[in-house]
Amino acid sequence: MSGPRPLLRPPTSPAPGARVLVLLCHPALHRSRVNRRLAQALVGLPGVTVHDLYDAWPDFDVGVAHEQALLDAHAHVVFQHPFYWYSAPALLKQWLDLVLEAGWAYGAGGTALRGKTLTSAISTGGAQAAYQPEGHHHHTLEELLTPFSTTARLCGMRWRTPFVVHGTHKLDEAGLQEAAGRYRAMIAALVGEP
Ligand SMILES: Cc1cc2nc3c(=O)[nH]c(=O)nc-3n(C[C@H](O)[C@H](O)[C@H](O)COP(=O)(O)O)c2cc1C
Repeated sequence: MSGPRPLLRPPTSPAPGARVLVLLCHPALHRSRVNRRLAQALVGLPGVTVHDLYDAWPDFDVGVAHEQALLDAHAHVVFQHPFYWYSAPALLKQWLDLVLEAGWAYGAGGTALRGKTLTSAISTGGAQAAYQPEGHHHHTLEELLTPFSTTARLCGMRWRTPFVVHGTHKLDEAGLQEAAGRYRAMIAALVGEP
């Protein structure tokens, strides 16, 4: 295929006064309890653009120029997804591989992301106690998120403490509500950060 690929869906445009770009990455959002609820909690927040990656690029043919333009327009970037095999759903890896180009995101002349912040907002089936050196998963989440925090640093971005919802299998309605409120407050605070 030559030239820029056509978008399958209407492109996500930056929200008015765009500050925070939430890259939502869930392969089956219609079946999600947690991430769908978290994303819904952001509806109406000024300055926040929620971009559903599986909806935009279901065939994994990520439109690099579109994604780079979205990144350009925001100061803060959030990867929101369920924790899958101690990492992210596959499309986020594809997004990283394609969008963070040498000479744009890193390397000689690669300064596009410098000064922005990056964080993860993730949900885990495992309980908080399981993500400890002595716990079931043997590592803390911060340790397991090292590929993301290190990517941020390579691109000159500031890595922020991740937002985490633990123990999703046992989360009841009150827990979901609490998590959604906490997430909305965290993202709203990010909007106001320089
Ligand atoms: C393919 C797959 C891999 C998963 N890997 C992990 C994992 O490594 N650690 C963990 O705590 N939970 C894991 N889980 C559980 C999910 O993180 C959990 O179901 C999800 O966070 C719930 O969010 P949702 O309701 O938005 O789907 C996995 C689930 C699936 C389907």
